[in-house]
Amino acid sequence: MNETATPPAATQPPAGIRAARDYRVLAERILSPAAWAYLQDGEAETGDANAAAFATRAPMPRPLRELRGGHSRLRLLGQSLAHPILLAPVAYQRLFHADGECASALAAAAQDGQSVISSLASQPLEEIATAGRGADGEGPWFQLYWQGGREATLELLHRALAAGCSAVVFTVDAPVKRASLHLPPGIAAVNQPAMPDPAVGEGQSIVFDGWMARAPTWDDLAWLRRHTRLPLLLKGILHAEDAERAIGLGCDGVIVSSHGGRVLPGAPASLDALPAVVKRVRGRVPVLLDSGIRGGGDVFAALALGASAVMVGRPYVWGLAAAGAIGVAHVIRLLRDELEMTMALCGCPRLDTIAPHCLG
Ligand code: FNR
Repeated sequence: MNETATPPAATQPPAGIRAARDYRVLAERILSPAAWAYLQDGEAETGDANAAAFATRAPMPRPLRELRGGHSRLRLLGQSLAHPILLAPVAYQRLFHADGECASALAAAAQDGQSVISSLASQPLEEIATAGRGADGEGPWFQLYWQGGREATLELLHRALAAGCSAVVFTVDAPVKRASLHLPPGIAAVNQPAMPDPAVGEGQSIVFDGWMARAPTWDDLAWLRRHTRLPLLLKGILHAEDAERAIGLGCDGVIVSSHGGRVLPGAPASLDALPAVVKRVRGRVPVLLDSGIRGGGDVFAALALGASAVMVGRPYVWGLAAAGAIGVAHVIRLLRDELEMTMALCGCPRLDTIAPHCLG
């Protein structure tokens, strides 16, 4: 096992939790300092910017409307979901709990939602796909990292397709690694061949001749589009022109994300970038958002500014660390309940009634 102390599988959520962010303190207590530092990397730099972006969008109360029969269900890329809160791809989840990615995927399916398996998952993706298969038979989505070249990328993609993954999320905002994580023995990215950090010759740039020499380009995205019929989403877009280009190349969705602030210090808060992307996309494909969602009110704000759904990262990992699958399911449920409460107080019976005018 890993260095991280893992509590036994919980059968009910820990006492005293009222909101998703309450899991943060439990997780910090349970995780090793190294695992905690890896999880929270980028949070200090961008957490304030994200919090500020969400704080300036105040939900506007609209009482007395008829709301019976309201719900937060949606159809997304042909799939029926009970709520718009997806689990973002997060690497190496056995660092946080022995049950790892399987627990998270199971929790998302149990909450009638959806999850995304990271290319850097620490359990076999076939097992995660099975754990995360929904009642409707849809498998989780698969997050694809470029594997340095087309052949290796295709191999991993084919494996995800064979495992029953139901959509592909191509993450393109992290071609350069800022810090490397020292994984404890027994934890690895088990679904892809080990890719050592690039080595370069004297006088060469580790960035341009190393990392970027094996990073994907728009041509590779066009190539990837030709190699899967599954819905393809581009993750890590903050500029409207990049969203336009993604649609032009046949992407079925874009994910406005700053990778939780883990890649480019000082990048704009994704919520601030969202309106321009939504305006440019003009409803042609769904726009998802992540980075900084900490409560149901944040989900509401993102939907009001035009997102079709959101993804959360760290909050569900806090739940995973504290209580395994039950903790993850609880985080999703808390966020959903808060979203539905916000909808009710703002007079919105369905997701498609949440609009910019719902914010003050
Ligand atoms: C990530 N994220 C990420 N994204 C991705 O496409 N592939 C990956 O393997 C990972 N791994 C990863 C590990 C950890 C520990 C974190 C916290 C995040 C980014 C993730 O999908 C998502 O964009 C952010 O986590 C969203 O921000 P919040 O919700 O954590 O603020």
